[in-house]
Amino acid sequence: MENFTEIILGWYDACGRDLPWRRTRDPYAVWLSEIILQQTRIAQGTAYWERFMARFPDAASLAAASEDEVLRLWEGLGYYSRARNLHAAARQIADLGAFPDTFEGIRALKGIGDYTAAAIGSIAFGLPAAVVDGNVYRVLSRHYGIDTPVGTSAAAKQFRALAQSLLPPERPGDFNQGMMDFGALVCTPRNPACPTCPLRESCVARQSGRVESLPVKKAGPAVTERYFTLIYLRCGGHTAIRRRGSGDIWQGLWEPLLLEHGEGETPQLPAWTAAGTLRKLKGGVKHALTHRLLTADFYLFESGERPPLPGEFRWIEENELDAYGKPRLFELLLAELF
Ligand code: ADE
Repeated sequence: MENFTEIILGWYDACGRDLPWRRTRDPYAVWLSEIILQQTRIAQGTAYWERFMARFPDAASLAAASEDEVLRLWEGLGYYSRARNLHAAARQIADLGAFPDTFEGIRALKGIGDYTAAAIGSIAFGLPAAVVDGNVYRVLSRHYGIDTPVGTSAAAKQFRALAQSLLPPERPGDFNQGMMDFGALVCTPRNPACPTCPLRESCVARQSGRVESLPVKKAGPAVTERYFTLIYLRCGGHTAIRRRGSGDIWQGLWEPLLLEHGEGETPQLPAWTAAGTLRKLKGGVKHALTHRLLTADFYLFESGERPPLPGEFRWIEENELDAYGKPRLFELLLAELF
């Protein structure tokens, strides 16, 4: 075994994080943690994992839930396709009768790519599959002085092969999680802990003064800006919401009246807004999604009579709003109201 591997395992034994899903090998619990952690930090994800485990202790209970309930419990985590895939995968697992225990079987579940299949397979079943993510790129590119730009297929191939060659067959899950923790705690993007790093003797980046310049990054896609006006409709203790369709952000979540417009433009308000009162709650609220920056104005419209809305709107009592999965931006509007 390479020295690198031994050092990572030794460091993980001494300094790895004590996380609740590491106290079990239940593949369902491990899978749930990996889906939550796909785009969420541990500090935020842990409470969600605990809530999901409490409400849905196994795949069968999750499979039996409604999609709305799953989305509601997911609310605040973002990337809601993860929640929909989670639900669909729970049904796949329930149909199979047991959690799949091969890499291909795990990879065939909805919402699982190579990284997540390797993480679950290695942690829950001891399968010899190396994870490769941003942490792994960073640690390996620095330690071995590799300057292939990450985000290219050449880098994917090179780093996958290297990570796989370093994986200890008897402790693949610990090695993978050691790499995750090492990248998060020691070999961090900025201000890495080089002076106390257990790999400092053999780190090529450190020896050649390239810690700051590795890994080499390829330019990412541009950020798109979008501008929304959200109008909360209030009529006699009721409000109208609609479910967003596919093909755009927030698929399956519920929104109030939402108008999209260009930067600095005032939206064209429906004529019926003249029949009630319209009050601006807040302007210029910024909300960032991956590759998108949203800017929104929030309004409250009040009237004694329900305005004529398109058929897809549903009138509900305002105190029922909790039961609907909502985008964070809508939550921010509600925070101005309640
Ligand atoms: N990120 C994704 N999976 C993780 C895990 N098992 N431990 C720590 N961080 C992670």
